Amino acid sequence: MITSITISAPAKVNLTLDIKGKRPDGYHELETVMHQINLLDIITIEKQETGIEVVTSSELVIDDETNLAYRAAALILEKYNCQAGVKINIQKNIPVGAGLAGGSTDAAAVLKGIRQLFDLPVDDRTLHEIGLALGSDVPFCLQGGTALATGRGEILSMLPDSLVLTMVIVKPPYQVSTAEVYKAFRLEQVKRFPDTNAFIESWCNCDMIGMCDHMENVFESVTEEQYAEIKTIKNQLVQLGAIKSIMSGSGPSVLAIFDQLAPAARAFEIIKKTCQETYIVSSYLKEGVL
Ligand code: C5P
Repeated sequence: MITSITISAPAKVNLTLDIKGKRPDGYHELETVMHQINLLDIITIEKQETGIEVVTSSELVIDDETNLAYRAAALILEKYNCQAGVKINIQKNIPVGAGLAGGSTDAAAVLKGIRQLFDLPVDDRTLHEIGLALGSDVPFCLQGGTALATGRGEILSMLPDSLVLTMVIVKPPYQVSTAEVYKAFRLEQVKRFPDTNAFIESWCNCDMIGMCDHMENVFESVTEEQYAEIKTIKNQLVQLGAIKSIMSGSGPSVLAIFDQLAPAARAFEIIKKTCQETYIVSSYLKEGVL
């Protein structure tokens, strides 16, 4: 019988992000292409007699019962009437409040980990439903890879692993609240919308230039307005050789696509001098892919 399990929890970026309107339930209708990257939190879950405990390596993560990983554990243990408890250790490498789904991917890893650790009879569909009760990005984090997400973000159409991208991610030194960004979003202020269908066509044809041409994020109209530095970082990345640079999710992280490793490595070295949370990453390939 296993008593502990360690799993990696990859961050995501949004390669396109469009808002189609407000829904009667108060959420927004999304159309976004999400893509996992190999910037990973490492989650270890240990069985314990009772209770849930969360320990993290980051001072920025609240480790009480409001933590999404804690809530994920509570929800699945209660639903399956598990009397035992768990200790969850989160080695935090994904920046917090960054638009990279750090909290959601930890929650997804906890759901998968507890299912395996306690051998719970939970099918993927049910896990997806439990995930959605925790947050709109959790279903994608459970699924992984690259997907077109619509609805609240939970209706997922998987896309092929066409391209392995080299990226530089820059997280400015502040956090952004997703709820606040949605609240401040005004359709009439958006200057550029993504052509999601054209993006997907390029993606499926392994056409990196075409794909980059159609990458846009409508939330830049909100977050860039408040933090001018985001635009400066995007421009700097393009000057350093990126084919395209956009903000990820509700921000403030910026992602830049490079067609070669050398300019990406150079951009990473230069930007890291002024922005500590800078990363060079590539697409996250699930085991057995490519
Ligand atoms: O689903 P999640 O809890 O991650 O969403 C955080 C906040 O972002 C929600 O409270 C809501 O205000 C907003 N949101 C939205 N439409 C979505 C996803 C999130 O308005 N599709």
